[in-house]
Amino acid sequence: MNFASDNTAGCAPDIMAALARANAGPAGAYGNDAATKRLTGHFSELFETEVQVFPVATGTAANSLSLSTLVPPYGGVICLDQAHIHEDECGAPEFFSGGARIFNVPGKRGKLDAADVERVVKLNSAANFHRMQPAAVSVTQLGEGGELYSPDEIGAIGEAAKRHGLGLHMDGARFANAVAGINCRPADVTWRAGVDILSFGATKNGAWAAEAIVVFKPELARSLLYRRQRAGHTFSKMRFLSVQLEAYLAQDLWLRNARHANGMMSRIAEALVELPDVRLLDRPRGNLTFVNLPVYLVEPLAKAGFVFYHWGNANYHTARLVTAFNTELGQVKKFVSILRKHSRGRKPPFAMDFLPRP
Ligand SMILES: Cc1ncc(COP(=O)(O)O)c(C=O)c1O
Repeated sequence: MNFASDNTAGCAPDIMAALARANAGPAGAYGNDAATKRLTGHFSELFETEVQVFPVATGTAANSLSLSTLVPPYGGVICLDQAHIHEDECGAPEFFSGGARIFNVPGKRGKLDAADVERVVKLNSAANFHRMQPAAVSVTQLGEGGELYSPDEIGAIGEAAKRHGLGLHMDGARFANAVAGINCRPADVTWRAGVDILSFGATKNGAWAAEAIVVFKPELARSLLYRRQRAGHTFSKMRFLSVQLEAYLAQDLWLRNARHANGMMSRIAEALVELPDVRLLDRPRGNLTFVNLPVYLVEPLAKAGFVFYHWGNANYHTARLVTAFNTELGQVKKFVSILRKHSRGRKPPFAMDFLPRP
């Protein structure tokens, strides 16, 4: 019973089956196989425009390599404080770009906006060669706190980026959950809104290990072949990454999986808002949310074997809950029933502000 991360989920059966099929007989190496060759067509159809696709095995590689195409060594990436590229990639974007800086900003309600872009650009003017030069903006969709950007919000950031000649990257480790949450066409929230390059995640939502760098601006693709090889992410048996992505897109598995995960999170949230001694950060739009729970609710959950990230003090904890493509309804019901059983039916006698991640 695990709400710790969608990374704790296994691999979707259709993707496992595709891997098993790909195991029969030889196939060309280093992307010279039929499945890899088909990917451009699949993704171009999905995004309703010609794209270039580069499979890699991790989200960190997808983000860092994408950003390295947009940012020179003396450049910088504008993103939120909480962005995975800033907090959780051990400097990989800086490393792959040859030294770029992350311009991390606090953001508003867990989102970046056009004013943040303007402010960072103004502070680091092109006329001042002493300063690192902002060269790209990176937004996470779905956000690290479960936030969802509408196509208009991305569009406003995209316009600000273009006004100053910056590229726009989207960290879509949970892109499927975001598209399912907005219920929009993938194109509307990416290239039509100004996104130049997308880390299209699949691993968290049912792949074994596969992410696609989707390039909307053809000139960015040119260097990626070399950058990916230099980063050690050109898999010799690339077919095994490509068939995962192919199966992920087939019959909209990516969206079906995400809708399921989001639906399970909605069920949890609907129950939580009814409990006066629980505080939900926001209505979840995807498969991830944060909630404050008094210790007297955390304890019975832990005792029942529920696993999730939480941190706190003697009175209450902030918990991050994440559902996945294979979260079972029974798990959700059990989680909720434990909370209902141990709820004291009134607000706790202490304030429950959200605690910063340790
Ligand atoms: C928002 C976001 N981006 C990128 C990643 C990177 O994924 P990986 O761990 O595969 O490098 C993660 C993983 O947790 C993530 O949550």
